[in-house]
Amino acid sequence: MHLLLMGPPGAGKGTQAANLVKEFGIPHISTGDMFRAAIKEGTELGKQAKACIDAGNLVPDEITIGIVRERLAQDDCKKGFILDGFPRTVDQADALTKILADLGLSLKSVVNITVPSSDLVERAVGRRICKSCGATFHIKFSPSKVEGKCDECGGELYQRADDTEETMKNRLSVYEAQTKPLIDYYQKAGLYLEIDGRQAIDKVFKDMVDALKA
Ligand code: AP5
Ligand code: MG
Ligand code: ZN
Repeated sequence: MHLLLMGPPGAGKGTQAANLVKEFGIPHISTGDMFRAAIKEGTELGKQAKACIDAGNLVPDEITIGIVRERLAQDDCKKGFILDGFPRTVDQADALTKILADLGLSLKSVVNITVPSSDLVERAVGRRICKSCGATFHIKFSPSKVEGKCDECGGELYQRADDTEETMKNRLSVYEAQTKPLIDYYQKAGLYLEIDGRQAIDKVFKDMVDALKA
């Protein structure tokens, strides 16, 4: 199952990808997670990406396409993957089509999680992530049992640097201008599915699995 998860910032892509990994046993590939890992490790990639991410702007296409090309060539992607947060521009989508064709692979579905922008700032600002295992929580919608501690591993929870109200405003306008056109792009390709992301996390997941199995 080769899937692409789309949706505006804070829509629930990472949350649902974690559920899909458990359901289908295929790798989760998030360009945002890859950049954050590189920033933490202090690599050259991390240095190139940091200023863009902190401002809520996109990392240049040539950098992003390069890391995705390398990742998709790994063996574990043959049986499937969940791409999260890539592509985000029409040029990235064209590059993805080419990368997959070179590998003899193709997308099965593109799932877009829709949430009105009025809800998204609250989702991002209230998000908490585990420093050790990456599990995602929300102070109101998906709280950890013990405040500040991860339910899965007991690790410390932190807030992403770009999860401020101000940066979210820019991330949302970047999404509208550069990523939203991909809805039309994948509709035309006949791959597009839409899931109502305003529902509870479990219901969003159920709708997604039902749609993918249909
Ligand atoms: P990235 O990390 O991909 O961020 P994003 O797209 O802005 O999406 P988020 O991770 O913020 O949201 P999500 O949809 O995963 O939501 P989540 O499940 O966590 O990218 C970060 C940056 O990296 C970009 O700004 C850019 O700079 C760079 N970048 C990445 N990819 C790039 C690319 N391809 N090209 C160029 N640059 C790139 O959920 C959010 C919160 O809501 C959580 O707290 C969760 O618990 C809660 N929640 C989830 N579902 C629900 C629900 N149904 N109801 C209530 N609460 C919910
Ligand atoms: Mg995410
Ligand atoms: Zn954890």
